[in-house]
Amino acid sequence: MRVWDVTGSLSLRIRRRRIMSDITRVLISDSLASACAHILRSQGGIEVTESPGLSPQDLLSQIKDYDGLIVRSATKVTADVLTAGSRLKVVGRAGTGVDNVDVDAATKNGIIVMNTPTGNSISAAELTCGLILSLSRQIPQAASSMNQGKWDRKKYMGSELYGKTLGILGLGRIGKEVAIRMQSFQMKTIGYDPIIPPEVTAEFGVQQFSLEEIWGQCDYITVHTPLLPSTTGLINDAAFAKCKRGVQVINCARGGIIDEAALLRALESGQCGGAGLDVFTEEPPRDRALIDHPLVISLPHLGASTHEAQNRCGEEIALQIVDVVKERALMGAVNAPALTKAFAPETKPWIKLGEALGRLLRCLLPKVNGEIQVTTTGGALKNYGSFLCSAVAIGILQDEDKKVNLVNSCIFAKEIGIQVTSRHSGDSAETRLEVSGGGLTLVGGLSGDLPGLIQIGPSRFRSPVSLEGTLLLWTEETNLPKLVEVLAAAGSQLQSFHVSGGYNVAEVSAPLSDLSSLGSCQQISL
Ligand code: NAD
Ligand code: MLT
Repeated sequence: MRVWDVTGSLSLRIRRRRIMSDITRVLISDSLASACAHILRSQGGIEVTESPGLSPQDLLSQIKDYDGLIVRSATKVTADVLTAGSRLKVVGRAGTGVDNVDVDAATKNGIIVMNTPTGNSISAAELTCGLILSLSRQIPQAASSMNQGKWDRKKYMGSELYGKTLGILGLGRIGKEVAIRMQSFQMKTIGYDPIIPPEVTAEFGVQQFSLEEIWGQCDYITVHTPLLPSTTGLINDAAFAKCKRGVQVINCARGGIIDEAALLRALESGQCGGAGLDVFTEEPPRDRALIDHPLVISLPHLGASTHEAQNRCGEEIALQIVDVVKERALMGAVNAPALTKAFAPETKPWIKLGEALGRLLRCLLPKVNGEIQVTTTGGALKNYGSFLCSAVAIGILQDEDKKVNLVNSCIFAKEIGIQVTSRHSGDSAETRLEVSGGGLTLVGGLSGDLPGLIQIGPSRFRSPVSLEGTLLLWTEETNLPKLVEVLAAAGSQLQSFHVSGGYNVAEVSAPLSDLSSLGSCQQISL
């Protein structure tokens, strides 16, 4: 809380912030393995509500009662949901893609989004392989004709996979597993990935080419990228036109990576000889044109629908949330990578120090704006810069109307014209944190786990000022006897008094409600 007292001095009360761990109620709004709720309850002591298939309206009205939300791909976690979730601290996606979560809005609202990126990779890869085999021999179509009482041996003449070329676009977790499996059918596997180096994919038998070189070589093309602006319509009319006639395509990644209208045109012209689709731009799809096409094998987004994948993802997301509750670790966060390091126990006192120095700077400067430089020194702080910027920004941002935390503080700071940047200086033997802005530098360090202020401006305090409890600060000479008298009258005591450069700082045992007799004194409760 920030208040101005009658003398015009600034008094700041610092609310203790735990990073994210106050998670007591979690809502599961999609169908998930029962292990998920069980782990949350038994290991995290969390109250869990399981409401698979919750309507968007019900989600919107109920989300305000929960600290955590766990979803698969059916629940749409929109900006409205995230804003309505005033207690929400974490959205857990039991699966890979977070495209059903408005990640930017979550970040802005200080909400961590985490996923379980590996739990269903094998299942999705196996389904992809199943679709490739199904396409080569029209297995589902033939089975369906048998169900209709037919015996159509001529109609379902297929072709071997042996010796054919499979193009894999996206060579991450699933693309790699597909390659390895399809090599056992002696398919030639080639591919493209802008991030994974060719020498890495060569180790699992995939030679990389540019997209332009890939189109004309493939008998089958399977996509395993996220849905991004750069991958939307990755296979489109122009790409189909460059492919071999009769190329077959598979999408077990995300609807829209293969342009659905272009696919329909290619199927109708014979340029595409078949498609295996597990995912659609709209799910469930209302437009049936592709689904009803005889050369299309379509599935209702089943890539992760195996007992093993669901158990793995359900367990993983629950364990990740329990780790957060217990402040042990932060795994799988997609929008707060810097926070992963912030969860290590040894970082917490530094985060406290960063917040305290930010608050102190805010208090000492008439207005904080422009660039705030966070400098870490000493080897131990080498990789702490990013989350210490967030910690300092929390301290600077005093507006309690906003839910400010390590996830969103730098974004809010930027919005009001404050740019917090970090640098590491390896020169000093001393491990310390400096915060500079508006012509003022504050230097802090730790004494054990306790944050301390070493220096304001150019000169050091003789001993560090503890950045805990209540501080009184003056830039003018202090009348010590008067201070002791005022403190005694208020039931408080002087614990220590420090002088450095133009600043006098008193540590006192309890905050004062009236500072009017202490000149231009500022009170800070840390
Ligand atoms: P991943 O992050 O491990 O791999 C994706 C790869 O795509 C990365 O290596 C990335 O560099 C690459 N990529 C990005 N842009 C590209 C581009 N323009 N061209 C080529 N490659 C590009 O992801 P993953 O775990 O392998 O998942 C792949 C996809 O599968 C995701 O879309 C995911 O949501 C989806 N998925 C679907 C199901 C399902 O049920 N059908 C299940 C799991 C995952
Ligand atoms: C995923 O991205 O993990 C999948 O789409 C699977 C799912 O959760 O349905």
